[in-house]
This record gives sequence, structure tokens and C-alpha cells, in this order.
Amino acid sequence: MTPETRQQALAGATLTYDGRELALPVVRGTEDEVALDIEKLRGATGAITLDPGFGNTGSCRSAITFIDGEKGILRYRGYPIDELAERSTFLEVAWLLINGELPNRAQLSAFTGDVTHHTLLHESFRRFFEALPKDAHPMPVCAAAVAALATFYQEPETDKKMSETAVRLIAKMPTLAAYSYKHSIGQPFMYPRNSLDYSATFLHMMFATPCEDGDPDPLLAKTLDLLLILHADHEQNCSTSTVRTVGSSGANLFASISAGISALWGPLHGGANQQVIEMLEKIEAEGGDVQVFVNRAKDKKDNSRLMGFGHRVYKNYDPRAQVLKRSCTEVLNRLGIRSRQLEIAMKLEEIALKDDYFISHKLYPNVDFYSGIIYKALGIPVNMFTVMFAIGRMPGWIAQWLEMRHDPATRIARPRQIYTGAVKRPYVEMERRGT
Ligand code: ACO
Repeated sequence: MTPETRQQALAGATLTYDGRELALPVVRGTEDEVALDIEKLRGATGAITLDPGFGNTGSCRSAITFIDGEKGILRYRGYPIDELAERSTFLEVAWLLINGELPNRAQLSAFTGDVTHHTLLHESFRRFFEALPKDAHPMPVCAAAVAALATFYQEPETDKKMSETAVRLIAKMPTLAAYSYKHSIGQPFMYPRNSLDYSATFLHMMFATPCEDGDPDPLLAKTLDLLLILHADHEQNCSTSTVRTVGSSGANLFASISAGISALWGPLHGGANQQVIEMLEKIEAEGGDVQVFVNRAKDKKDNSRLMGFGHRVYKNYDPRAQVLKRSCTEVLNRLGIRSRQLEIAMKLEEIALKDDYFISHKLYPNVDFYSGIIYKALGIPVNMFTVMFAIGRMPGWIAQWLEMRHDPATRIARPRQIYTGAVKRPYVEMERRGT
């Protein structure tokens, strides 16, 4: 512990093990979250802690995002998510996450200018996309492309360089994402347009062609911006912990974030929004009987889960899902889209929220439950949903990585294990190994 963190260690706890007592410092956060500091446990007792999936393990101290999963609270740097969703823009939130304060007018304008002027990719990057199969899923394409960016920017990591890398990543991620899509449908890449804002230029790169190059619909751009704000950070989730873990070895920001994108790809994490739509499509195709699907999700012999439901941390309604549910209905109404899938989703939610299984397991809709429906309304193809999440999560990953790098308490991430394999045994010669 550093002297500063030692000061924050308040009243102690006592652990009794093997007839001996060990004093464990108690650490409190600013929102009164409590941790027992077990740093000395192994040295004093020889024991480690065992916590598969790290469900009850604090891996760091962080001043970026606060979640109270029991109450359904999410705040970035102290600001409630619903206020940010209603009143700020994605780039404003990105600045907030990385710098700790909301930007003033001059700071926001300089940051927006920097991001706008770093959106282009080196022209030789075209060959990178050409080398990949057309039907490649865009998540591994983006993970590989972000790792490949490191080959273009190999300068030593000074504070100034790290800030430039942060801007480059936020700026280039939408370009990489849109190029991966254009490559998959065989259309020419569209360059970013500096006259458009962050979300609008992404929609332009995705949907414009050299033959048809109008301005994107401002409602769609604003909705996308809202989604990106909601995805921007979520404290020590699977992909963010991956980014921190990789970065703790001294690996650069590009490499760390490329690993985070790969972690986000999994269906239990960012890949869930794609799975939600596939689930809704399946229910629709099977005649729309929502109760049958809910029953299957409860049946332990059946592998089905209600995708978009449940969360490791939220044991209440995910506050992001609440914002999205409102926005979903509003956007679809304004676009004049009648979505059978939204109707099925609302019915599913209604049934699940009254069902004893979901109530007793504290399973509520998470952010992914409604995000897929909005992405569909924006025209985003289903296999790009998780990529949208990655664009949104970029400032959070960067802020967490920078915090990790600047924290004197950071050590290389290296959990222990309980070994359950064979005990020592002599080598067996080939002829004695049987058939
Ligand atoms: N449908 C049905 N049952 C569920 C669901 C679900 N969606 N989620 C959890 N359960 C049940 C489990 O079967 C288990 O039941 P049991 O205790 O009776 O055996 C219990 O709830 C606890 O589940 P775990 O998997 O142990 O919970 P964990 O915290 O490890 O997992 C997770 C959380 C992965 C999000 C899980 O709820 C899930 O798989 N949800 C569906 C996928 C999803 O929507 N992921 C997106 C998460 S949000 C995000 O990453 C942005």
C-alpha cells in the first residue's frame, strides 16, 4: 500500500485461520464501498483467496465510474448517466472520462478539433482490409486493425504521446469500423467528413456511397451519440479488466485495447446485443409465443438464456436500459417504424419481471436488451452491433488504462490458483504408455 492509500485504510477486520489471528485493513471508497485488504494474507498464513470470475474481488482503486448495482445507479466521474445521456455529447463524455471534469467550451472545441483531424487512416491500411475474407466478422477485424495501428505509431510512451494515442483511437475507431463494413459488402470506402459531428460522420462512412452522398439524418446521429454515451464506461467489466491486465505488463495502449475488443466480442459481454436480436427473431419466427421462451430460459436442462437479461453487478434495472427503453419507443415512433421485435421485447420484459424465477434471481433487462432494437432502426447490420459497443467503450478503456498507468500501486496483473492436477510422478517411456 502507498502512504496515501494506507491513510484511507480505516478500522481493521480480524481473520482467524489455523488458530492465529490476522488483522486486515478495511478500505473505504468515497461512496462508502468497503474492501478488506488481503495483500498480507498469503505472507502471513500461506493461504490465497479463491474467487472464480473475480465476482467479489476489487482489482484496483478507480475514480472514474461508480455503480451501485443494488440500487441501479451508474455515474461517470460523479455525474448520473441519465443526466449525461440527456444533456451531453459523446465527445464531451469522452473528455470527462479521460480528464475527470466536464470540458469548458474551449477545451471541448480543441478536443473535437483534434478528434476530427485524426479520423483518417494511412492509405496503406486499405491493403490490410483487402487481405481479409469478405465474410469476416467485424469484431476480429477491428481488434486486428487496432493492434495494427501500433505499427504506425511506434514512438516511446511519453504523457504527450499517450494523449495523442488516446485521440487517435477515439478518432480512428469509427473509420476502422465503417471500413470493415464497407469491405464486407464490397463497396468503396468513404472518407470521414470534417464538417459532420462524430456520430454523423460515422453514419456517413457507413451508408453513403460515391453515387449517393447526402447528409445523415440528424435524429439518427443524435440517437447514435446517445448509445455511445451509454456504452462509454462501466468500471471493471470483462473487457476493461482485460485492457488493464494487458496494460499492466507495460504493453502499449493499442495492444491493450485490441485485447479489450476481443474480450468484448464474447456473447456473455458485448456480443449479447447481437444475441438479443437473434433471440427476438427466433421467437418471431416460431410464432411469437413469448411464454414458451421464458419457460425455456428457466429450465436448467435447456441451455437457453434470456439474452439481454441479468448482469454480474446490477441486481436491479440497469439504468442504461431504462434510458434506452424510452429512446427506443421515441425513435421508432419518429421514424414511423413499427417493430414486431420491440413488441416481443416488451412482452418478454413484462412476463419476466413478474416471474418468480427472474425476481428471485434478480434478473432485470440490461443495456443490451434494447440497444439492438435501436441499432436495427438506425440501419446498423446485426453483426456490427458489438462494434458499435466498442466505439462507445473506447474512452472508458482509455481512461481506465491511463489511470492504471499513472497509479503508483499498479503491479503486473498476476492472479494465483489452487492447483488440482496430478501430484509429482515419474516420466513414463513411450513403450510403457499403452495403446
Ligand atoms: N436467463 C436465465 N437465467 C439466467 C440469466 C438469463 N439471462 N442470467 C443468469 N441466469 C441465472 C443462471 O442460470 C444462474 O441460475 P442458478 O443460480 O439457479 O444456477 C443465476 O441466474 C446466476 O447466473 P450466473 O451466470 O452465475 O451470473 P453471472 O453474474 O456469472 O452472469 C451474465 C451474468 C453473464 C450477464 C448472465 O446474467 C447472462 O448470461 N446474461 C445473458 C447474457 C447477457 O445479456 N449479457 C450482457 C451483459 S451486459 C454487458 O456485458 C454489456
